[in-house]
Amino acid sequence: MTSPVDDASVTNALINKLAREELVDMVPYQSARRLFASGDNEQANSKTWLNANEAPGQGQYQLNSENINRYPDFQPQALLSAYSNYCKLPIDNILATRGADEGIELIIRSFCRAYQDNILICPPTYGMYAISAENHGAGIISVPLVDTVEAKCQLDIEGLKQQVGKVKVVFLCSPGNPIGNTLPAAQIQAAIEIFKDSAIVVVDEAYYEYTNEALGSEQVNNKLISQCGNVIILRTLSKAFALAGLRCGFTLSSKDVITLLSKVIAPYPIAAPVAEIASKVLTNDLNVMQARVNTANNLRKQLSEWLKQQKWCDEVFDSNANFVLFRCNNVDEKNKVFNFLVENNILIRDQSKQQQLENCLRISIGSEEEIAQLKQLLDTL
Ligand SMILES: Cc1ncc(COP(=O)(O)O)c(C=O)c1O
Repeated sequence: MTSPVDDASVTNALINKLAREELVDMVPYQSARRLFASGDNEQANSKTWLNANEAPGQGQYQLNSENINRYPDFQPQALLSAYSNYCKLPIDNILATRGADEGIELIIRSFCRAYQDNILICPPTYGMYAISAENHGAGIISVPLVDTVEAKCQLDIEGLKQQVGKVKVVFLCSPGNPIGNTLPAAQIQAAIEIFKDSAIVVVDEAYYEYTNEALGSEQVNNKLISQCGNVIILRTLSKAFALAGLRCGFTLSSKDVITLLSKVIAPYPIAAPVAEIASKVLTNDLNVMQARVNTANNLRKQLSEWLKQQKWCDEVFDSNANFVLFRCNNVDEKNKVFNFLVENNILIRDQSKQQQLENCLRISIGSEEEIAQLKQLLDTL
């Protein structure tokens, strides 16, 4: 590796002086790759990555590179048509983005004025809502999920009502990351109703395909978008479609919202090879995707049952996604499990810093072999 060409201390002082002040000390999103970055491909390949909710296995795709001297379409038509067929919404209601993460960022930039407006999140939840808000200078209001014996992982509807007029965008995540819980449809509808005149409600469905209701809920979602002006749904090809490295996601909403977001997105967000592979997968490989989802769901159920029997495990959360979250008896046991796996090159995610998730770890559902290896190893703990 070559070393940097600048004089670090001089550049550092200048950049810190010029940068937006709040970015200087900001901690960026600790993605699974960043947390264990080594810069060494060989070393990375020798690890078992069960910390980013990616699908296991790899696809083989042929690319036509004849036209890459040209800019791609702003929104490649073949890609929009393929996703439109899949989600049963007209293409006018779809915006293709660089992953669902870009959708999150565009929504905040389009609806929140920096240093004036707020987003609302319901922790424990996906970290990028807060990071994107911070990056943009939007405030963050938290209304945590309800965590009582009677109602676990549900929206605090009364708490949401108190924020009407104080927030511009509300992020709901269902199935939620890092718990895997699905929010009851009635609660999502209630939130949309509460904010119908004052805020956009985003339903992040990155793990949509893993839910039992997946097929039936298309109509529900499409009705939400056609009947409620303030709804946005986020989807991705990074999970069930096993294309995390491709960076392709979709924002679904009314034509007016899509038109607005189109003003903010980069002029050529979807690279031609990305559109080509994504269109092919969406057109030809839906059965492959469904089989992958079925396998992951079965493995998750088996792993959850196994975890429940481990003496260091206190609680296993119900999940409808390609990961399972569990709580260890105490912090020592949590660290012991986590560190033992890392020492043996199996990477899972520590979620214990999140509100309500003390001593919790999350395992992404990898291949059958990877999960068997993880169990075998933990049996020796
Ligand atoms: C809930 C949730 N939303 C969005 C994303 C981002 O997905 P993408 O890879 O499409 O940017 C993730 C990724 O882990 C996620 O868990």
